[in-house]
Amino acid sequence: MRSGQFSVITASANLHQGGRGLHPMKHNEILRVEGLRKVYRSGSADLVLFDNLSFQVPEGELLAIVGQSGAGKSTLLHMLGALDTPTAGEVIFDGTRLSGLNEESAAEFRNRQIGYVWQFHYLLPEFTALENVAMPLYLRGVSRRQAEKEAAQWLAEVGLADRGHHRSGELSGGEQQRVSLARALVTSPRMLLADEPTGDLDTRTAEAVFELIARLHTSHRLTSIVVTHNLDFARRCDRVFDLRGGRLELRAGELQGGGNPQPAGASNDATRG
Ligand SMILES: Nc1ncnc2c1ncn2[C@@H]1O[C@H](COP(=O)(O)OP(=O)(O)OP(=O)(O)O)[C@@H](O)[C@H]1O
Ligand SMILES: [Mg+2]
Repeated sequence: MRSGQFSVITASANLHQGGRGLHPMKHNEILRVEGLRKVYRSGSADLVLFDNLSFQVPEGELLAIVGQSGAGKSTLLHMLGALDTPTAGEVIFDGTRLSGLNEESAAEFRNRQIGYVWQFHYLLPEFTALENVAMPLYLRGVSRRQAEKEAAQWLAEVGLADRGHHRSGELSGGEQQRVSLARALVTSPRMLLADEPTGDLDTRTAEAVFELIARLHTSHRLTSIVVTHNLDFARRCDRVFDLRGGRLELRAGELQGGGNPQPAGASNDATRG
């Protein structure tokens, strides 16, 4: 099944490989999605983005999600990060059912466990790079001095030690995306969710930002899920899920020896419409 570049196998086929997937828990699994359904009411009709979507993500995996515009990638990512709620089904992060969190616990969960990076960086232009990175720590109640010390370390880690006092509006697109990565990770989350993080950048800058994501993913032992339209990037991830027609397919043929020697399964019986 893995011969050929980027051949597509169905996720449910993978589920049965090696007898894995149907077992209740893998010891290193950090994220589990069970029977996920998302329906948007659109005029008189329902838009069923996906239905009965199930998959697991082992800790330390760098997972790519690809798919055409409108397939539901962002919607899926929002549900994985407790930014949106599914119509049915469960997202379970390290044993915690996100559906069971009230608003306050969901906010706490996002602040403690998840780092987010978006296509557009959403930095606050009037604040310096340092202040932008320190912001999640201020929100956590960390003292200004400590927050800025940690933010400065993160700016150095993304190669912007000398840009801390620039307002974010004065930075280039690639630099802004580096700042937003530092901001996403300053709270030491366990999972990084990135939605087209290089979508707004030129090829060379996009390459550098992806390299940085891959490096930080490894050095900080993150579990990372990256939505991308860039198949070159996707290919370099541990696994690639293709969301199409409400179904999630595992693309094989480019698995690399990252943190996931035993890919976890994915399955669904999705329908659309
Ligand atoms: N709040 C909403 N209400 C109704 N429909 C929505 C809502 N949010 C998204 N949709 C629809 O759901 C579908 C999936 O949207 P989503 O943003 O998840 O796609 P995507 O795969 O991320 O696309 P892109 O690659 O363009 O970012 C789209 O058809 C969109 O119009
Ligand atoms: Mg999107």
